[in-house]
Amino acid sequence: MANPRKAASAARTSSVGGRRRITTGGPRRIQSGQSDGPQRQRYLVTFPAGLAALVEECLRADLRLVSVSHRDDSALLFSTSAPAESVAKLLYVKNAFQLVLEVPRTSLSGAAKAIAQRLRRSVSPGLERMSGFRIMAQIDGQLEPLDRHAKGTLERAVMSATRARVMSRGGGDELWLIGRRALGTIVLGRRLSRAAKPGPAGSLSPELSRLLVRMSKPQGGDVFLDPFAGSGALCRARAEWPARRVIGVDLYAEPRFDSPRARAPIEFLREDALELPSVESGSASVVATDPPWGEFESFAGSAQEFYAAMAASFRRVLDPRTGRLVLLVSRKMEQLVADELIRAGFEGPRLVPVLVNGHPATVLNACPAEARDDGG
Ligand SMILES: C[S@@+](CC[C@H](N)C(=O)[O-])C[C@H]1O[C@@H](n2cnc3c(N)ncnc32)[C@H](O)[C@@H]1O
Repeated sequence: MANPRKAASAARTSSVGGRRRITTGGPRRIQSGQSDGPQRQRYLVTFPAGLAALVEECLRADLRLVSVSHRDDSALLFSTSAPAESVAKLLYVKNAFQLVLEVPRTSLSGAAKAIAQRLRRSVSPGLERMSGFRIMAQIDGQLEPLDRHAKGTLERAVMSATRARVMSRGGGDELWLIGRRALGTIVLGRRLSRAAKPGPAGSLSPELSRLLVRMSKPQGGDVFLDPFAGSGALCRARAEWPARRVIGVDLYAEPRFDSPRARAPIEFLREDALELPSVESGSASVVATDPPWGEFESFAGSAQEFYAAMAASFRRVLDPRTGRLVLLVSRKMEQLVADELIRAGFEGPRLVPVLVNGHPATVLNACPAEARDDGG
């Protein structure tokens, strides 16, 4: 992985043909990677499919002067005046790339050659202080083979612009040729960060967990509850934010709650999410959870009975005025669950379609009906 601190200095120092050069306010050719002025850099981030609007909202809250130039289902291209190290620290994105160059859309090998030509002509941001690198290619997040000849041409151009050597087995920086179906260009990006390793089977990824937590609008005084905690992914993500209490509940699983980023302790209750006998009525600020989807496990009764009991249980424990609900369900169940939420006294839920490891799912975001009546 690229050292974010090294990448952060990209706006100020650059190297051409091995000679370090300090760029000053004097005239210089502006590259597409920094089209918005010397202080701004461009980045491409990828994230769980379906959450582009939420990710954009998070980027605007977390980084300075964000301007988005491309947004699709699972990627955003944007510029910001925030340094690369801030982008590298965004834990809700799967991958973050600092943009080096961008060329009109063509084949990957055509793009590699066009970028090589551009690199020979002028300095590009994002290539400073690289000692070793390898080049890879992807379209819409899928690894793509790159023609050997085109790859060699691009490697030689990067080597002569940076004096870095090719480390084809890894260990150095990663430069990615990135194509997106809905993007009219192909970009060369230097990878700043990558997705965390997946957890145990059935657990939510850390990135998706963090995005669901962001959807719940975390506040320091929150009592956060995940009544179907499973491996504990949502509780760990919530504990990265200050909270009054973070509580995980599961009737069968053994959640893991240790996390180096924890800022709040996590409590565990072994009880039935459909009753929550230890949780006082109206005491929870947020219920965010991923209940059984009914695909790999069967419900004791019908799916409708299960989700009706769940909705009533969540409605009881949530603060009627300020409570927030974030619920991840299988796409097949979205209507049934939405109907049961309304029946239990939730205001018409907002439905956000997402893909969870390729499975169509829906996030339902709702609050008790009284909260709306109060203007909450
Ligand atoms: C889809 S999994 C949750 C996965 C979790 N989000 C993760 O990242 O690991 C659903 C969990 O609900 C638990 N569960 C099923 N029925 C329950 C019930 N009535 N009360 C509490 N937990 C229950 C299961 O043990 C399982 O761990």
